[in-house]
Amino acid sequence: MLQVHQISKNFGGLRALREVTFSVTEGEIVGLIGPNGSGKSTAFNVITGFLPATSGTVTFKGETVSDLPAHEVARRGIARTFQLVRPFPHLTTLDNVLAGALFGASAFPSKKAAEPHAYQVLELVGLAPKAQVLARHLTIMERKWLEVARALAGQPQLLLLDEFMAGLNPSEIPEALALIRQLNATGITIIVVEHIIKVITHVCQRVIVLNAGQKLAEGTAIEVIENPLVIEAYLGSHYAKH
Ligand SMILES: Nc1ncnc2c1ncn2[C@@H]1O[C@H](COP(=O)(O)OP(=O)(O)O)[C@@H](O)[C@H]1O
Ligand SMILES: [Mg+2]
Repeated sequence: MLQVHQISKNFGGLRALREVTFSVTEGEIVGLIGPNGSGKSTAFNVITGFLPATSGTVTFKGETVSDLPAHEVARRGIARTFQLVRPFPHLTTLDNVLAGALFGASAFPSKKAAEPHAYQVLELVGLAPKAQVLARHLTIMERKWLEVARALAGQPQLLLLDEFMAGLNPSEIPEALALIRQLNATGITIIVVEHIIKVITHVCQRVIVLNAGQKLAEGTAIEVIENPLVIEAYLGSHYAKH
């Protein structure tokens, strides 16, 4: 479904991604992990057309999308959440989701036409009771769920989640994992960037590890967390002992 082929991204002299190649098959949940600054969010930015790659190509459902602007990539069915959540503060929860619906793959002809789906998505993330509340009055956690709802509103086929569980309290994690599984069960292919190893081991069928902009390892969650290179670069010896 998605092929990332030899993608490099330079910021001036900084090589944030170096010839990174991986692919994602329809129906998978793939984990993307690595230390801070290893290029995970940059990979999402390039895949979704928010940033142009310096070199390399991204192909989605057989079409090269790496030369398309973000709204065209979204139109083709790729949605993402941002690590730093920024809903429109003066719009209601519902209107934030509707903005996502109009940006996405579903091409609803109007705001009105998108409303039933927007409500469905709010229901799914537990925000339906807050539909008419201004986004600036939501708690941090509710804003994170809103970010997921906004991404889902466009009915994506591929969803990229950038650390949306960071900051959730431990009791909220199972709910978030259940949502990921539920979305996947409805046919959405998912790439998750997460630092919480439990998330990776519990929901990801395959894991890709980035380190300093390069792909360090790829395999099942177990293969990856037992890989000495990954332990050294990312997990640390503390994790290895437990
Ligand atoms: N827009 C940008 N301009 C300049 N440097 C950036 C930009 N985005 C990311 N970087 C740099 O690229 C590297 C990779 O960042 P990022 O992809 O955010 O890492 P991660 O998400 O894995 O923590 C970091 O060194 C970061 O400072
Ligand atoms: Mg990041």
